Amino acid sequence: MTGEWDFRGIDAGEELPDIDTSVPHSARIYDYILGGKDNFAVDRQAAAKAMAANPHLATAMRENRALMRRMVAWLAQEAGVRQFLDIGTGLPTSPNVHEIVQAAAPEARVVYVDNDPIVLTHARALLTSSPEGATTYVHADLRDPGKILSDPRLLSTLDLSQPVALTLFAVLQFIPDADDPWGIVARLVGALPSGSYLALQHPTRDFYPDGVGNDRAYRNAGIAFQYRTKDEFARFVAGLELVPPGIQLMSQWRAEQEPQPRPSAAEAAAYGAIARKP
Ligand SMILES: C[S@@+](CC[C@H](N)C(=O)[O-])C[C@H]1O[C@@H](n2cnc3c(N)ncnc32)[C@H](O)[C@@H]1O
Repeated sequence: MTGEWDFRGIDAGEELPDIDTSVPHSARIYDYILGGKDNFAVDRQAAAKAMAANPHLATAMRENRALMRRMVAWLAQEAGVRQFLDIGTGLPTSPNVHEIVQAAAPEARVVYVDNDPIVLTHARALLTSSPEGATTYVHADLRDPGKILSDPRLLSTLDLSQPVALTLFAVLQFIPDADDPWGIVARLVGALPSGSYLALQHPTRDFYPDGVGNDRAYRNAGIAFQYRTKDEFARFVAGLELVPPGIQLMSQWRAEQEPQPRPSAAEAAAYGAIARKP
């Protein structure tokens, strides 16, 4: 499949799931706040309420994209990773993960995963691999790691005996404690060989005064949303080796080359870290 667009599961006669425009979706709210066009009136209304509750939300989302770019570039350039599993990909937003890693290593292979039907319908934009590498898209739920790990598209794109970078940017807040996000991450990392990496971004309310935050606006819109503390974030990387500078505010993680001054803790209230599987 090297260098070819892999449409299996996208237009190979498989029926696309319906797009529900009567309820807001997190991918479309995010797309709207980042200035995209793939959103509906319900998403824009939910976004307005979330931004009213947290005036820094747009800054935080832009900082998340910047963190993703820095982390993925570090994984490809400094750590030499050539395989990526990106879960909770979102609507295509350039530069996408494969564009960043294949600029450094054209032979790199990237599997994207999301559970939102609208991301599936736009997945072609994620499948523009370099000829030397490969990209594919898997429509699946992070809460079902067994299904993700056994998907034939994933298995024909990634060699799970070689190191993989698992990237989870701004997605774990949508997995409530009751669904055991720590167990899900451990299961995914457990399937990867030594020398693999986990790159994470997770919003926190550690820096907000009481009552500030967009979590309630999301929940009122029917979307599970949970902030996590630094200790709760640290549980995701337990047993792994933190890459310097460790768990940081997302606006600070290896951000020396970014425009200064960096957004404050309140403006970019999320943690980021990369950890290596020993
Ligand atoms: C805020 S966006 C983040 C997109 C991208 N990772 C980024 O950082 O720019 C969250 C994405 O996670 C996806 N998502 C939420 N819950 C999910 C789940 N249980 N399984 C898979 N994807 C999920 C949403 O559909 C959405 O596309």
